[in-house]
Parts: sequence; C-alpha cells; structure tokens
Amino acid sequence: MKKRAKVAVLISGRGSNMAALVYAAKADDCPYEIVLVASNDPAASGLKLAEAEGIDTFAHPHKGLKRAEHDQIIHEAVTSAGAEYIALAGYMRILSDDFVSKWQDRMLNIHPSLLPKYKGLDTYQRALDAGDTHAGCSVHLVTPELDDGPVLEQTAVAILPGDTATLLAGRVLIAEHQLYASTLAKYVTREANPDWILSEVRKRALALEETYERPSFGTPGWRVGSEKTGKYFAYFSQRHFGETGTSVFVKTSGLDEQGALLDADPDLYFAPKFYGKSGWIAIRLDTGATDWGHVADCLKKSWRMVAPKRLTRMMDIADNF
Ligand code: GAR
Repeated sequence: MKKRAKVAVLISGRGSNMAALVYAAKADDCPYEIVLVASNDPAASGLKLAEAEGIDTFAHPHKGLKRAEHDQIIHEAVTSAGAEYIALAGYMRILSDDFVSKWQDRMLNIHPSLLPKYKGLDTYQRALDAGDTHAGCSVHLVTPELDDGPVLEQTAVAILPGDTATLLAGRVLIAEHQLYASTLAKYVTREANPDWILSEVRKRALALEETYERPSFGTPGWRVGSEKTGKYFAYFSQRHFGETGTSVFVKTSGLDEQGALLDADPDLYFAPKFYGKSGWIAIRLDTGATDWGHVADCLKKSWRMVAPKRLTRMMDIADNF
C-alpha cells in the first residue's frame, strides 16, 4: 500500500470526530494515519480515547499564554510528530494568522452547519429559528477568518417536525463522522485525482489575460486571443494519444529548450508524441510532488509565445529595459 498521509487531530473536548477519523484510519485502504491527538485542555476526554487506541497525545493549556505562543507550542508538537496535515475536530480556539499560514491548504475543520450559513456557535438553534428545512455540516480548509475557508464537502441533514437543537445536533453529529473521514481521505489523495489536477491547471490557465477553454481532439485546451483567431498555449492530457499519466502540454521556444528540459529532468518532462516535433513539452502532474508555481510559470511563458502583441508589448518593453 502507498505511504499514508500523516494527520494530527486537534480537539478541545469529547473528540467524537477525532474518534471517527481514528476508526476510519484502521481500514487497510485508508490513505491517512493519525499520528497525534493534541489539545489545549489536558482534561479533554478525547485524549483518553486516543491513548487507549495507542495514539500519541499532547496537551498544553492555553491559560496565561498569548495566542501566538500557545499556537507555536502546538505547531512544534504537531511537526515533531511528523504530521503533514492538521484536522481540527471541535478545537475551540481561534488560531493566529501565523499558525494558519504555516498550515495553509493542509489544515481542515469540521463545522456543524451548511456554510456559509451559521458560522460560530448555536448553529442548530439558528437553523431551527430560521425555519430551515435542512441543517448539516461542512468540512472546509482553514483560513484566517473563522469558519470561512473554501468548503470541500457538505452533508445536508433534514430537520424533523418537533426537532430541538439537541435532537438535531445528534443527527448532524452522525453525518459529521461520515463526512469528515471521507473528505479527509479524498483531500489527502487529491494529487492522484485527474479531476482535481484538471481544475488546478484550469484555474492557472484561465487566470492569464484573454484566455478561454476549448476542447481539442477531446481534451481540454486553453487559448489566448479572440474566439476566432485565438491560439492554443496549453493542453491537458490524461493518457491522451496513448501518453502515460496526467500532464499538461505547453510550448517552449523550440527544440533546443525542449531538449534542455528533457535532459535536466526526465522524470518531470517528456516530449508529447503528437506535438513534440514543434517544441511542445509535457509536464507530468501525477508525481505526487507537483510544483504548482512552476506549472503557472510554464503556462505563462507558453501564453506569452502565442498571445497577440498588444497583450505582450508592455512585458517585452519591461524585459528590455
Ligand atoms: C462538532 O459538532 C464540531 O462540528 C463542532 O464541535 C463539535 C465537536 O464535537 N465544531 C465547531 O463548532 C467548530 N466551529 P466532538 O469533540 O465530539 O468532535
């Protein structure tokens, strides 16, 4: 089995979501393992459960410490456990911006509402008071604003006649336990998922000026310029034309540059058979270690080679300055 992603779970209380992640990780095919359960409250009952399951635990009270100081203590515990991801599970602390930015795109949270509705507390009563037909839960990436990061997945939970906040919370919790385990599994394996890879390429290609997507021989491609006279600067390839793996094809300045790249990193680049003779190069996106900044740079260089002069003129002037 492939290496499992190492996850630290932060809790403040009973830790039932943490328990759901711990039990899910017992399955042979679970793509993550829980390497640490940490808390800001040494009396958090979830710590005992984690210990009994043979998982390392860590607790440090926040009392008397500045927010950033306490976050740093937790950060050190989590990194020395070797964690690559953090799952917040009822961790009732507001986190410092510095801590959040250290874990950007690698820290998830579960929240008992259908975000963006009902951030903060009392989510069940607020859903009942609003007369909503459904409550629910969301797993999202953590950003500095409370309960505000991009939502990864949600589960809606029907509100029943005569529901109370307590009854509703009980059912939402069942949904939380399912949702957190499955969303975390998908998230830590996203780099092997062609749909996710495509959406990352698309985001970067369409961020360039005057670009649009148009399929070419059945694969997504991106063009710059007008609908009529635009030119392709990138193609997505998932085993396209018999090539292996998932990659993006971009233009180089010609065969010399293409050859230099192939020599420099034969695991990352290959010459796509269908386009290779004209200097196009394929960048592999399924190595599990994609440098997305580099992909964005290559898309930009390729875009610049085919973009209309009126779009590149200012860049050319800046380069020659
Ligand atoms: C869960 O319902 C979780 O969604 C919520 O705290 C509870 C923790 O329960 N989190 C938040 O409200 C975060 N804003 P647990 O300790 O049994 O997992």
